[in-house]
Amino acid sequence: MRLPAELIPVRARTYRTPSRASRPAIPIGKQVEIKAPLGLPPVPFPEDNPPTAETIRLGRKLFFDPLLSADGKISCSSCHNPKTAFTDPKVISLGIGDKVGTRNSMTLLNAAYHMTQFWDGRAQRFEDQASGPVLNHLEMDHSLVGVERRLTANKEYGRMFAEAFGPGPITWEMVAKSLSSYERTLLSGNSPFDRYQYGGDKKAISAAAIRGLTLFMDNTLDGPNCVSCHRIEENFATFTESRFHNTGVAWQPETKTYSDDGHFTVSTLPKDKGAFKVVTLRNVAITAPYMHNGSIKTLEESVDFYFKGGRPNPLLSGVVPHPGVPNIPKAQQAAARADIVEFLKALTGTMPDEPGVNR
Ligand code: HEC
Ligand code: HEC
Repeated sequence: MRLPAELIPVRARTYRTPSRASRPAIPIGKQVEIKAPLGLPPVPFPEDNPPTAETIRLGRKLFFDPLLSADGKISCSSCHNPKTAFTDPKVISLGIGDKVGTRNSMTLLNAAYHMTQFWDGRAQRFEDQASGPVLNHLEMDHSLVGVERRLTANKEYGRMFAEAFGPGPITWEMVAKSLSSYERTLLSGNSPFDRYQYGGDKKAISAAAIRGLTLFMDNTLDGPNCVSCHRIEENFATFTESRFHNTGVAWQPETKTYSDDGHFTVSTLPKDKGAFKVVTLRNVAITAPYMHNGSIKTLEESVDFYFKGGRPNPLLSGVVPHPGVPNIPKAQQAAARADIVEFLKALTGTMPDEPGVNR
């Protein structure tokens, strides 16, 4: 299946401020520090959008406001629900008029560290990403000018935008910048793994999880080799490397085609067919279902997928473990799988301070 035309990245067309672009959207408030919890590096942000208390507050209101969608029923939080770690438990999210999207909604927790956004990497910064769902006919199906008009007609927003960016017309760029600053606060760290690895608490995770960590870190191709793509650094761990790999999830052996071309739609390099962004594994125990198409339901199945060497296809990444993980004797594979799952469960961290969030 190819992506519907409206999802194909035409960056210049899709991600440019449509109107009143002459008014600069620079936050006027004092820059605030977003504190990263244990296990995470400092939060990067673009020079022209330092986080301020005013833009974060505004971004939070916009994130939960269905006013952004054409029919006034879908908000960002419809598919990135704080109660389910800012993801959607559905295999594929429903957008406007219950239209079915094309991919699984990913968690926004720690997305601030991603060098590219979306499973295929078609946007770079949050600032470029935000118009994607608003314009997408299957998601919010609105226009950026339409959003500007609605916000302009709303007194409370008028006041909040003036506090954040100074007096004058409300522009999409301000909306995108505010949403982005809010999203940069959605951090989750200080998990049992972080306390073990970076906090010096050797009792923070179980013996099984420690064995699982060792397997996860075994970066020979005959071992599980998880860490080659889901990275753990010396002082922090994002569990991704913001690059694209083909693990075979989209391969359809019957037709010898990919159900989704993935990063190829962005790079147009044939080698990128069926390659997807390495996603974080933080909070993975509470973000099922898994993979870009939500095709894997449990962590056990995910580990099995890798123990089988992913799904063989002509463009399978060279760093996917070898089938049968030869380093682990057959008789020990069930135990190894259980240990890796225990480790993955130790990656559930603190949640941002949002009303209604399960802790
Ligand atoms: C109808 C469901 C839906 C709505 C509404 C929605 N999203 Fe998403 N979001 C998704 C899906 C599905 C993906 C993955 C899509 C893809 O990769 O093609 C995604 C991906 C993202 C990503 C990329 C994260 C990453 O790690 O790459 C960000 C950021 C994001 N959404 C923010 C938002 C914001 C901000 C809004 C509101 C303006 C929003 N979303 C509205 C479903 C939705
Ligand atoms: C070649 C790089 C690579 C290696 C090695 C690798 N992964 Fe992944 N992982 C990915 C990519 C890419 C995705 C997204 C794939 C997709 O959706 O098509 C992913 C997705 C996942 C997911 C689903 C996450 C979600 O939120 O949907 C889990 C769980 C996972 N990997 C665990 C592991 C474990 C455990 C190992 C080691 C046994 C491992 N990975 C080894 C690249 C890799």
